Amino acid sequence: MATQLEHGSSQFLRQDFQQELSRWNRQRLAPAFPSEATAAQFSNDRNMLRLEHAFIEELREHVVDEAADAPTTPDAFIDWFEGLKATGPGQHDRLFSWLADQADRDELRWFLSQEAAGEAGFDDLVALTQVKLPTRAKLELARNYWDEMGRGNPKGMHGPMLNRLTDILDLDTQIEHTVWESLALANAMTAMASSRNYAWHSVGALGVIELTAPDRSAHTAKGLRRIGLSGSERRYFDLHAVLDIKHSRDWNDEAIRPLVEEDPRRATAMAEGALIRLYCGARCFERYRADLGVE
Ligand SMILES: [Fe+2]
Ligand SMILES: [Fe+2]
Repeated sequence: MATQLEHGSSQFLRQDFQQELSRWNRQRLAPAFPSEATAAQFSNDRNMLRLEHAFIEELREHVVDEAADAPTTPDAFIDWFEGLKATGPGQHDRLFSWLADQADRDELRWFLSQEAAGEAGFDDLVALTQVKLPTRAKLELARNYWDEMGRGNPKGMHGPMLNRLTDILDLDTQIEHTVWESLALANAMTAMASSRNYAWHSVGALGVIELTAPDRSAHTAKGLRRIGLSGSERRYFDLHAVLDIKHSRDWNDEAIRPLVEEDPRRATAMAEGALIRLYCGARCFERYRADLGVE
């Protein structure tokens, strides 16, 4: 296991590059008008797409051997995938027990500002990933997306729920004030969801978020309760501590399993995507601990 990716020598695992990629993602995914499609934009898009591809290939290079060891038959692959919850990179990082039991209000605010700034929007990632997927997986992504949409109730939408917490705690979520590790996590998720060459990677990466989020959410919710936030203020984290257990089970049964049954090569791609996501998370936790002075 190599959590410490040699980022000293990487042209991608850096503040300047990740900020540039974050700004480009924000701009290219924003609804716009035909008049904004200029020659300069096409040439910038082409350049950024190439850099984004090289970035994700560097992350892939880091996990390719580990992912090659994942089984490619459905039952064995699901066992391997679910095993990431206990032993995957960054799992049970001591940052989270510290957040639950010790962090003060400003320390929790800083952590949440990094997490909120690095949030690529799970709903949109699911929507981008489901394009042209086989029916069973597509239906599972649709059900998951509908939950993200609060099943049609604006107050139950997950994105705005997190935004409300951001407002309550007056969090600074500017790209310039976000550490590159957090930007890299969001940029990697966006790269996999938006490029069809990484569609199976994205299914794996989103699935491993569902698998691992409940534990982190429960610890974060405990910290927020300790500093005095009410149930409705903590709702985003209380909700994900519970709902994502079901989301994970359904994602594994209805998306991952049938996709691997159809084509075992997808198991390796999903394993790579899941590991890319987990190593990105592990780099964040390590950086947060360093900046927060957590022993
Ligand atoms: Fe959610
Ligand atoms: Fe979920």
